[in-house]
Formats: sequence, C-alpha cells, structure tokens
Amino acid sequence: MADTDKIEIRDVTRIERIGAHSHIRGLGLDDVLEARTVSQGMVGQKEARRAAGIVVQMVREGKIAGRCILLAGEPSTGKTAIAVGMAQALGNETPFTSMSGSEIYSLEMNKTEALSQALRKSIGLRIKEETEIIEGEVVEIQIDRPATGTGQKVGKVTMKTTDMETNYDLGNKIIECFIKEKIQAGDIITIDKASGKVSKLGRSFTRARDYDATGTQTRFVQCPEGELQKRKEVVHTVSLHEIDVINSRTHGFLALFSGDTGEIKQEVRDQINSKVIEWREEGKAEINPGVLFIDECHMLDIECFSFLNRALESDMAPVVVMATNRGITKIRGTHYRSPHGIPIDLLDRMIIIRTVPYTEKEIKEILKIRCEEEDCQIHSDALMVLGRIATETSLRYAIQSITTASLVSKRRKAAEIMVEDIRKVYSLFLDEKRSSKILKEYQDEYLFYDDSLPKVEAENQQQQQQQQAQAMEVEGN
Ligand SMILES: Nc1ncnc2c1ncn2[C@@H]1O[C@H](COP(=O)(O)OP(=O)(O)O)[C@@H](O)[C@H]1O
Ligand SMILES: [Mg+2]
Repeated sequence: MADTDKIEIRDVTRIERIGAHSHIRGLGLDDVLEARTVSQGMVGQKEARRAAGIVVQMVREGKIAGRCILLAGEPSTGKTAIAVGMAQALGNETPFTSMSGSEIYSLEMNKTEALSQALRKSIGLRIKEETEIIEGEVVEIQIDRPATGTGQKVGKVTMKTTDMETNYDLGNKIIECFIKEKIQAGDIITIDKASGKVSKLGRSFTRARDYDATGTQTRFVQCPEGELQKRKEVVHTVSLHEIDVINSRTHGFLALFSGDTGEIKQEVRDQINSKVIEWREEGKAEINPGVLFIDECHMLDIECFSFLNRALESDMAPVVVMATNRGITKIRGTHYRSPHGIPIDLLDRMIIIRTVPYTEKEIKEILKIRCEEEDCQIHSDALMVLGRIATETSLRYAIQSITTASLVSKRRKAAEIMVEDIRKVYSLFLDEKRSSKILKEYQDEYLFYDDSLPKVEAENQQQQQQQQAQAMEVEGN
C-alpha cells in the first residue's frame, strides 16, 4: 500500500532531534495509575506523575471541561518533562497545545486573542462523514494518451469483486492518480468517489504466482466480496482554531500553514460555536476537549489571568495545565504579591501538583537515560562523578555536560566517557554558581557592576519572613 498517501502534514514537519525531553515517552504508569520507578524515560517524582496520570484519565474521558492544574516546584524538577509525558500519554488523537507564557506578547495580536487561539487549538472536533468508495480488484486497465503527448487522457478500468464485475470510465484526474500509484491489473484498490483519490491495498492472492521475483514489500490480499460500491464512514479530526481560520473571511485557509492568522472576530467564533453545537446534537460531530499547557505561567499578567478565569467557565474549554517555578512573587502588571505570581482567585480554582527535588540516585538514573538517548557510552565512575556534579550544581548543567564530555572523549578516540573527560568539561564550562562567584571576585574589572542584586535577594527574603510571621499570627489567633 502506498504509505505516502497517509502522511499528514503534521508528521512531515516533525523532525526527530535530540531535545531536552526527547527521552520521555509517557508518564510511566501502570494500569492502576501507580508510577513505576523507572519507565518510559521517567524517573522518580512518583506522586506528581501519578497525579498527572489522573489528569490524563480525566481528559481521556472528556467529560470535564475547564479545569486548571498547576505544576509547581523548583527549577529542573521535571515540570516540563511531566507535561511532555502527559502529551505522549494522551496520544495523537487528543489535541495537546504547548506554549510558553511569554509567547502571548506579540505586536500583531493582543494577549487575550493569543490565549483564545491557544484555547481553541486545544479543542478537537471529530467530524464523521460518509463517503462512497469503489473497492475491488483491477481486471483490466486501458489508458489512451493523445498522440501529441499533451492534452486530456481518457481511460477505462474493469474492476471486480468475488461477486461482480463492472466497467468504469476514467477521468483525467483519476488517470493521473492511477499512473502515480502505478496501478496495474491484479491490484486491489479503493477509489474515493468524492475526492478521486486512489489507494492501493495490495496485490490479489490469485496473482501471487504471476512473477517469480516480487519485492518483500508486496502485500497480498484477498479479493473483496460483495458490491463494488460501498459506503464508508471516515472521521476527520480538526481543532476549533482550524475551523475558525478557514471561516475567517480576512484570511484564507492558507494562513494555517504560515501561522499568520491575525485576529479572528468574535462573531466568527460565535457562529462556529453554535454550528458545532448543532452538529453535536445531530450526531455529526463529537467534541474532543484536549489540553492547553502554559509553561512559565508567571509570565502571564493580570489581564491574562482574569481572561482565563472567565474562559475556563465556558463549557467548550480545554483542561489547562500551567507550570511555574516561582515562589511568592509579584503578579505581573500589578504591585501585589501572590503565591506563584498567580492571583488568588485563579489559584483557588486550580489543583496544584507539586514536584520535589530528586535524590542522588534518581539523578544518576536520569543521567543514564540521557546518555542512552544521546548514544554515548559512559563509564560507571564517570556517571558517579557526573551525578555528584549534578547534586552540587544542577541537573541541567550535568545533562548538558554529557554532550560536551562525549565530544571530548571522541577526540581522544575513546569508546566511552571517562572521569577525565568529565573533569575536562567541568573545568572548561562554568556552572551558574562558579560563574557568579567569579563575577563577584572580579567585579572591579568588569565594565558595569550592579551590586544591588544581593540586596534584592535580601529584600525578598525579608518579605517572605514577614509573610510567614503574619501567617503564623493568623494561625495563633
Ligand atoms: N522524572 C524525570 N525523569 C526523566 N527525566 C527528567 C525527569 N525530570 C526532569 N527530567 C529531565 O531533566 C531536565 C530538566 O527538567 P525540566 O522538566 O525541564 O524541569 P523544569 O521544567 O521543572 O524546570 C529535562 O531534560 C527533563 O527532561
Ligand atoms: Mg520548565
């Protein structure tokens, strides 16, 4: 069968590269949603993974709209990793839109429009459609080309099932498809009558002995039974945003490819919403709410938060997952402080999943998985040193050191990364702590030096202490 026909554009643009989270293949849960210690590229963080698994289950059932979940925890504790795992666990059918909080700031589009589009990208619509197809074995095929070589081609095809045989006249477009698919007598094919698309299912068993030399890819199938013409139900999945763009008069559907959709009028959205509800009632379409993931959500400002507050109440809202590594901090766009920089009223609607720092053993396991992902051999001593470095500096620094250390070891023409490679890389590349120490030591030699930074930190600490004291007072009362 010609697989090229099945490729969707989405698959073509996805280039397989080793990214920060490419080792993650799911949440690594068992049937009762209990987290396995190491599975599908996920290590530790069991509570949070289990919680994420429950959210995934909730989304799969698709009954609940507009819930908001917050992943909160220190930097590099796997918040983004868990979101990636959720997307993998949900599969291709359920829409999962991933964005960073800072993506909404654009000159072409206001913030709330960017959020609306993201929300609507996360709602899928399964549209059922019946089409007529002709399915059978090609008995004879005859294509007449004009003598001049150009111009319309005409042709005829005889097709059969086990029960009947019929002749069809072929139009120019279908002939092109026949030529492209290299259809010949003995092939089992389907022709979509509406679109004129021809696809090859395989070769008929009765023709199996026609040629002695057949490739391994040749698939042999039975000649179909019954009528040649059949009705077949096909299901298309599109997102509400795609329908919006196609129906927005100012931009053609081509805007979907360029991403240059501009703002979409509220009237268009309202019309589409009522149409969708109509389709749902008629049983033509099914709404499939997915997930919108907003990473670094402290980058959203108060206007966005209040917009989300309202948007989540709509019954066509997806499940929103946010992640942040901030503590008590200013809400962007105000002078008020709040936990995670999120207003209390929105926080009140959220369920919060906390991620905790990893133990040394878990870190070593993650590093091992990353080494496999990057195709590097590492000596166990070197892995131990790297694990120690990770606890002392950060997990991210250690993960990045794998790539550089492997390059160093390759220059030595060694098969695996040894301790000396790690040592070399550690001396070549600074981590955040050493870098800031050097900056402090040599402050006079740098052009500008702003020594107010430590003060800001101290101020923050002071404020936190005050808040804690206040909280204790309240509890005391
Ligand atoms: N539990 C885990 N299992 C496997 N890899 C993890 C895990 N947690 C984090 N990582 C990896 O560690 C790195 C940092 O994690 P990340 O999710 O980016 O942290 P955060 O978003 O919380 O700051 C990423 O490369 C991530 O894939
Ligand atoms: Mg992150």
